[in-house]
Amino acid sequence: MKPSRRNFINTLLCSTAGVSLLGPAQTVLGKSKPNIKSSFIPESIWDIPTPALLIDRPRMESNSQKMQSFLAGTKAGLRPHTKTHKSPIIAKMQMKHGAVGVCAAKVSEAEVMFKGGLKDILITSPVVTDDKIKRVMALASQSEHISLVVDREDNVANLNEAAKAAGIKLSVLIELRMGGIRTGIEHGKPAWDLLKVIDQSSNLQFYGIQAYAGRVQHIKGYENRKQESELVLAPAQQMKLEMLQAGYQVKVLSVGGTGTYSVDANLEGVTDIQAGSYLFMDVDYRIIGGKGNNLYTDFEPSLFVLSTAISQPMPGSITIDAGSKSFSKDKMPQLKDISGIEYSFAGDEHGILTFKNPSREVKVGEKVLLLTSHCDPTINLYDNYFVYDGQEVQDIWPVAGRGKSQ
Ligand SMILES: Cc1ncc(COP(=O)(O)O)c(C=O)c1O
Repeated sequence: MKPSRRNFINTLLCSTAGVSLLGPAQTVLGKSKPNIKSSFIPESIWDIPTPALLIDRPRMESNSQKMQSFLAGTKAGLRPHTKTHKSPIIAKMQMKHGAVGVCAAKVSEAEVMFKGGLKDILITSPVVTDDKIKRVMALASQSEHISLVVDREDNVANLNEAAKAAGIKLSVLIELRMGGIRTGIEHGKPAWDLLKVIDQSSNLQFYGIQAYAGRVQHIKGYENRKQESELVLAPAQQMKLEMLQAGYQVKVLSVGGTGTYSVDANLEGVTDIQAGSYLFMDVDYRIIGGKGNNLYTDFEPSLFVLSTAISQPMPGSITIDAGSKSFSKDKMPQLKDISGIEYSFAGDEHGILTFKNPSREVKVGEKVLLLTSHCDPTINLYDNYFVYDGQEVQDIWPVAGRGKSQ
C-alpha cells in the first residue's frame, strides 16, 4: 500500500536522528510542534502556505560537509554556533558530520540545545544575573561539557560561589575584547589578572580563550578580511602562548565565523571555529566577496523564504506577502531564480518586487523563493522549517530556539 503523505512525513519524523526530541509523531503533527495544521502536509514546496521558511536539505548538508572537509586539513575543529539555526536537529547533523561541540548565544538557547540532546555547549555571552547563573549551574550539573565565557572579576567570583553551592566545577573561557565595545576584556594585564582570579577559584576550571571578531566577518574582499583577522587575532594567539609557557592549561582558543573561517583555522593556536551562517548563507554574506570573486561562494545559499504575489496595483511592480515580519530588515532579500527584480519592504506584511529588466515577470498568485537578507534574525521570525529536496517537502522541523534570547 502506498503510504499516505501524512504517514510518510510521520515515518520521516520518527526515523530521523534528531527528531526523537519532538516526541511521538501525533504530537509533532497534531498540536503545537510544529505549528501547522496536521491535515495539510504539502507534497511540493509550491503548495506550502506562505510566507514560509524553507531549507534545501542537500545544499545545507553539502555546506556542512564542505566546512568539515576544509577544517580536516587544519588543526582547528568546528564548534558551530546554534544562534543561526536554533535547531537541535540541525546541531545533531553538524555533530554527526564531525563538529567538536556547539555554541549557544544565551542560557535559554543552551537549554534548548541541551534538551535536544547536545551535551557539549559553549555559552558565548557573559551570564551575570543570579537567576541565569543558577540555570547555567543546572545545565553544568548534568554535563561536564558546559562552558561559559567571562570578562570580569566580580562575575568570576559569583560563578565560583554558585558552582560551589551546586557542588560542581564549571569550565570558563576568558573572552577577549576584539576591537569593538560589545563584550570582552582587554588582552595583556587585565586578562592576566582575570586568569589569576579564575585560577584561585576552587570551583572554576580555566578552559581557554574566546576571541570572536564579529566586525571582521563582513569586511568586503578576501584579502582585506584576511589581513584584519590576522591582525586582531595576533594578541589572542600571543596570550595563549604566554599562558602555556607560564604553565596554564589552555585547551581552547575559540574564534571566527563564516567570513574568516578559512583564514583563522590556519592560525597557530586556534582550536575552534565558531561559524554559524555558513550552513545557510544570506545576502549579507554573499556580498562580502571571496578569493578572486565579488560573490562569496565558499558555501551555497540553502535557506529561502517562499512568498506569494498577491496584488499588482501598478504595472512595473508586484506585491508579495512577505514584509518585515518575514525578513530581517538590515539588508534586502533577493529573488532566488529570477534576475532583474528588486525587493523593497512595504510594511510588516508586504514587500514590493520592482521589475528592472527582469529575466521573467511574476504574476499574481505565483510563488517565488527569496534569499534571506540576514539568516539568523530571519529564522527567529518563524516557527518551522520546511525541509525539501528538489521540489519535494521531506520534513518539517521546529525552530525550537525561536525567541530564546534570554
Ligand atoms: C560569538 C559568536 N560566534 C560566532 C558567530 C557566528 O558567526 P557567523 O554566523 O558569521 O558564522 C556569532 C554570530 O553572531 C557570534 O556572535
